[in-house]
Parts: sequence; C-alpha cells; structure tokens
Amino acid sequence: MRVHRPLPIDHKIKVGYNEFLVSKTDEHGNILYVNDTFLKISGYEEIDVLGTPHSIVRHPDMPACIFYLMWQRLKKGENIQALVKNLARSGEYYWVSTDFEIRYEGNQKTYLAFRRGVSKDAIETIEPLYQQLLKIEKKHGIQASLVYLESFLQENQMTFNEYMNSILKPKKLIAIIFNTLKNRFRHSA
Ligand SMILES: Cc1cc2nc3c(=O)[nH]c(=O)nc-3n(C[C@H](O)[C@H](O)[C@H](O)COP(=O)(O)O)c2cc1C
Repeated sequence: MRVHRPLPIDHKIKVGYNEFLVSKTDEHGNILYVNDTFLKISGYEEIDVLGTPHSIVRHPDMPACIFYLMWQRLKKGENIQALVKNLARSGEYYWVSTDFEIRYEGNQKTYLAFRRGVSKDAIETIEPLYQQLLKIEKKHGIQASLVYLESFLQENQMTFNEYMNSILKPKKLIAIIFNTLKNRFRHSA
C-alpha cells in the first residue's frame, strides 16, 4: 500500500511524560492496533492507520539505519529501544522513546511498540547524531551510516541499547507506570 505522508512543518507536538502511545503490527510492519493516545498525538483516525504500513508516521529527519537496526534486532528475536522523531498528520513532529518488542500469538509473530515522551536533554543529545547519520546516508548510503554508528558506539564503549538507555533514563515513577502499561498491553493488545 502506498503511504501518503504529509509535508513536514517545523512545529513540535509535546508528548507528556504520562502519555503512552502504543501500536502493534504484523510481521511486515502493517498496523494492527493503535491506542487512543497514539491517535490523539499523531492526529489520525483509527480507520486511516489500521492495515497501513507503520512508515505512515515516518519523519524524513529519521536516519534509515535506525529502522534497519530495529528490524534486524526484531527479526533475530531481540527487543530494542530507540528515540524516534515521528510525523503527525498535520506535518508537525513529535519525539518519543520507543520500546519495540516481539509477541507471539499462537504461531503468528506480531510486534509491539510502546512509546513515551522524552526530555529536551535527550532530544538535544540524539539530534546531532541522527543529523550526522542522515547526512552520511544521503551522500554514501545506509551501509556507510551503519559503519559510522558502529564506530560511534565503539568510541562510547556501549551497545546501541546501552547508549539509548543512557540518554533515556525515565524518572522512577514514570518507569513504574510505563512497565505496568507494557505488561497490561502485552496480554491484551
Ligand atoms: C511495532 C512497530 C512500530 C513501529 N513504529 C514506528 C514509528 O513510530 N515510526 C516510524 O517511523 N517507524 C516505525 N516503525 C518502522 C516502520 O515499519 C518502517 O520500518 C520505518 O518507518 C521506515 O520506513 P521506510 O523503510 O518505508 O522508509 C515501526 C515498526 C514496528 C514493527
């Protein structure tokens, strides 16, 4: 299915720390479920997104190598966390910390994404890295941006998840609420 993406505008939608955006996809990344907060922040109606590729909210500022890594990990059966800039229907953007997880429903594999708002500091830390990755990708392709990302992580002596964790530390209460929500959705979404 072709996804119509709105023209990005330079206006941020603030996602509160207590706003949790959840979605579920099939093995190919087609949306099977979204919660009300996802709809509220992204500006879509449920009917617009169900059955649609999740790239409907892909923002052009996001480097492709982050999604490449995400899919690689999920296909290997590993969960992954990443800071993601998304595109709302209005063209505005919103930043979220996203925990991507695999879920098996009988013999069907589905993927869940749990998102929460992030601090200004976290965004300011990740933006220069994503901008650099995007610049490399535009000039030399995704393999080059993956090599850059790997050497960046090596320099920082961290894995991707460790690096994301280091900039995304939620406050204790938020972490507890987020984990409770994740547990609830893991069984019901
Ligand atoms: C559970 C799940 C949630 C996803 N959530 C997002 C998201 O919020 N934003 C996004 O840009 N891509 C998300 N993706 C990744 C998209 O499927 C896609 O790989 C990405 O947008 C890049 O799209 P493109 O390769 O068509 O450019 C998600 C994938 C899965 C499996």
